[in-house]
This record gives sequence, C-alpha cells and structure tokens, in this order.
Amino acid sequence: MSETAPQKRLYIKTYGCQMNVYDSERMADVLAPLGYGMTDEPAEADLVVLNTCHIREKATEKVYSELGQLKRLKQDRPGGMTIAVAGCVAQAEGEEIMRRQPAVDLVVGPQAYHQLPELIARAHRARGERLAADFAPEEKFDALSTERRPSGVSAFLTVQEGCDKFCTFCVVPYTRGGEWSRPVEAIEAEARALAAKGVREVTLLGQNVNAYAGEGGLAGLVRRLARIEGLDRIRYTTSHPRDMDEALIAAHGEVEALMPYLHLPVQAGSDKILKAMNRAHTAESYLRLIERIRAARPDIAISGDFIVGFPGERDSDFEATLQLIREVGYASAFSFKYSRRPGTPAAAMPGQVAEAVKDERLQRLQALIDEQQQAFNAAQAGRTLPVLFEKTGRHAGQLVGKSPYLQAVHVTAPDRMLGQIVPVKIDSAARNSLAGVLELETA
Ligand code: SAH
Ligand code: SF4
Ligand code: F3S
Repeated sequence: MSETAPQKRLYIKTYGCQMNVYDSERMADVLAPLGYGMTDEPAEADLVVLNTCHIREKATEKVYSELGQLKRLKQDRPGGMTIAVAGCVAQAEGEEIMRRQPAVDLVVGPQAYHQLPELIARAHRARGERLAADFAPEEKFDALSTERRPSGVSAFLTVQEGCDKFCTFCVVPYTRGGEWSRPVEAIEAEARALAAKGVREVTLLGQNVNAYAGEGGLAGLVRRLARIEGLDRIRYTTSHPRDMDEALIAAHGEVEALMPYLHLPVQAGSDKILKAMNRAHTAESYLRLIERIRAARPDIAISGDFIVGFPGERDSDFEATLQLIREVGYASAFSFKYSRRPGTPAAAMPGQVAEAVKDERLQRLQALIDEQQQAFNAAQAGRTLPVLFEKTGRHAGQLVGKSPYLQAVHVTAPDRMLGQIVPVKIDSAARNSLAGVLELETA
C-alpha cells in the first residue's frame, strides 16, 4: 500500500520547538501508508494537521485564528476536509478546542499521534473518541517505525521527552508529561537508518536532553552514535544546567563528531528570580559550569534562553541578567517576555511586571545579544571552517551550509557538493550568517 501513488493530500502546519518539527515528520510517516501525500496548500488538503505550541499566550492564540481560517476552507471544499489539532495546545486544552471550534474533527496530544489513523477513521464514522491525550511515550515510539524518510542531510531525532523540572513559568511538564528516555538500541537503529539514507548530521532532541537516562547517559549515547559510518555531526538540544554532567563535558573535548555548540538556557541572572523560577541553579553556578565546558572545548559556541519581566523582577534583577550575559559572551540566544500561563505557579505570583517594562527590557537585552552574536560571527572571518552543505542558495550557483558553530554559511559551489562537508575560507560575517569561498579555490 505504501508504494502506491498518494490519493489523498495532507497539509501539516508546525508551531513551536524542534520536537514539534520531528513529531510532524513522524505524523506524515504514520499517515503515508493510508495514502496521504504532502501538500503545501491547505485549500487542497483532505487532511489538515495543526501541530501546536502552548508555551506562550501568543503561540496558543495563533491556533484559534488559524482554525477560523481553516473552517472557511473546509466549507468551500465539497469533498470534505478533516481537521486535526495535535501538539501541546491539544494536550492542554483539547476539550476547549472542540467546543470553541466545531470544525475541528479530532484532537491528539503529543504522546498519542501514532493513533492518528484510528482517530481519523472514528471521526469519519462520526462516533467514538475524538480526543486522544495519553501520557505513554513508550507506546508511541513502539508503534513508530525506526525507518524514516529524511528530507535533507540534517535530521532531528527525539531521544528524550517530557520534563520533571517544573520551572514555575512553564507549561511543558503539563503538556509533555514526565521525563522519559528512549532505549539506546531504538535510537541507534533510527540513527543508522537515517545515515543509510544520506543523513550526515543528527540533532538529538529532548525537552531536557541532557537528562537522558538510557544506558550510558547522553555522553554514552553520543559516543555510540559517533561510531556510525557517515554520521559526521552530532548536536543535541535543549539542556538544563543542572543535568550537565562531567561525562558530557568531557565528550565535548573528545568526540570529534560532537559539534562545538551548546544551547544551555539560564533564563535570568538574578538569584532571587532564579529561585522564584525554581531553576535549581544560581548565576554563579551557571558561570562556573560554562567555565568547565570551555576548559574542555575552548571554542564552543554558547547559546541560551532568557525571560524578561518574570514576576518580581526589578531593575536591579534585570541588570544582573545583562551582567551575566556580558560575562558569558553568547554566540546567539532566544529571549522572551514573560507570558502568564494558566495553571503554572508563576501566574499567581505577586509583582507581575507591566508590559511596557517588559518591552523595554527585552529590547535592551536583545541589543546586547545582537552585539555579541555579531562579534562571534566576525571572529570567524579569515578562518577556514568545515561546512556541511544543506541546500541551494537564493542566487544561482550558491549553496548554503552550516559551520560547526551552527552559523549559516553562503558559498559559491557546485550542486554536487550538497551533503558534503567541505573546507570553506570565511571572508565576511553578517548578523545572521557568514560568507566564504571554497578553500580549494584559494590554494
Ligand atoms: N527545556 C525546554 C524549554 C522549552 S521552552 C526545551 O527543551 O526547549 C523554551 C523556552 O521558552 C524556555 O527556555 C523559556 O526561555 C521560554 N519560556 C517558557 N515558558 C515561558 C513563559 N511562560 N513565558 C515566556 N517564555 C517562556
Ligand atoms: Fe520548561 Fe523548565 Fe522543563 Fe525547560 S526545564 S521544559 S523551561 S519546566
Ligand atoms: Fe511548545 Fe510544546 Fe515545544 S509547548 S515549545 S511545542 S514542547
């Protein structure tokens, strides 16, 4: 059946984090045997899946406005359209979604999407359960094949899901469930299958990926995957400072395939705020941790996440965040205004910060990060870096690849170099990317 031409069309829209990107690919895998092929046009789709994110209020609101538009498309389609809502909003407010938008046919949480074929069949018979929101990731992964259809040379691979940390601002422990790690063998099988299809780089995913609790921990897993023929680059995200153990730090100094880039969110630089966030680290312990990581891998690019305007954050607390940023020197970072999420402890805390104050702090923080990012990029000029070419560029004859530090690099190079790792002499740096020439041409 999977070899026959698709008779039905599937449109998936993905919001949120990289794990949702992975999940969307896996949903397409689950639906392919039913005859669903992908389309980029929602108006042409027989089945639309919105894979949603609940992390901030804006992310959640987008889903409802998108559903409003889909409802109109559905009315215009005589052949019918099935609308499914997946992901973290589905988990958090599945029943509300079906109440607020009757055009939705089914709702499926992040741990239950392997049941999509069954849910679709039930929705078409217009009876039975239309809401699946289990918390059993092992069932999901058992049901998914380790065979995938990667779309490029770099792929995501989920190794850990869920979170037990309960940062007081965050919905993830409620939408993804508790921490759970896939067995090493299953991950290795999936990685081998990817490598056999030409994948050169995997990014191991987890909400707390460095809390990976399979045999050997994350360091052991990285060392094991590094032995796979053809898999030359390994990355992982996102990590919690508290789970950054010695073995993983050592791996950064020893495993060639482990790329010198680490996303290690700190959120804030004031110990009072960190405590109220339940982060279980201080500014000082984070800085010492960065020192130890840099001792193992001096050139490592550090990235992070920041929240401004957490309840009770005063000017002096915010200044402490800026000070921490100055001390670390980030290669890049994501920063957000605190968003009050229903059901989380911080939502009920006193001292909620005015929107205008959050805006102003976010601007100042982002200006500082921009400066650091530009400096980090500029420091690569004149160096020769191995670049993994991932796709063709906007200009003819141009390829775009990634440096070891996750910077985009634009190079004039022949298409046959796609999927190869090639030395590139960097000659200029912009805010978000680098440009260079093939080293062999400069020789
Ligand atoms: N450990 C997770 C973090 C997920 S959320 C991971 O694996 O990615 C990503 C980032 O969103 C967090 O690091 C935090 O900076 C931000 N965030 C989470 N909840 C938020 C909220 N209520 N308001 C604003 N930003 C938030
Ligand atoms: Fe959310 Fe904190 Fe867990 Fe990250 S560690 S997912 S920020 S609760
Ligand atoms: Fe969003 Fe869920 Fe990821 S809330 S950030 S899609 S884990």
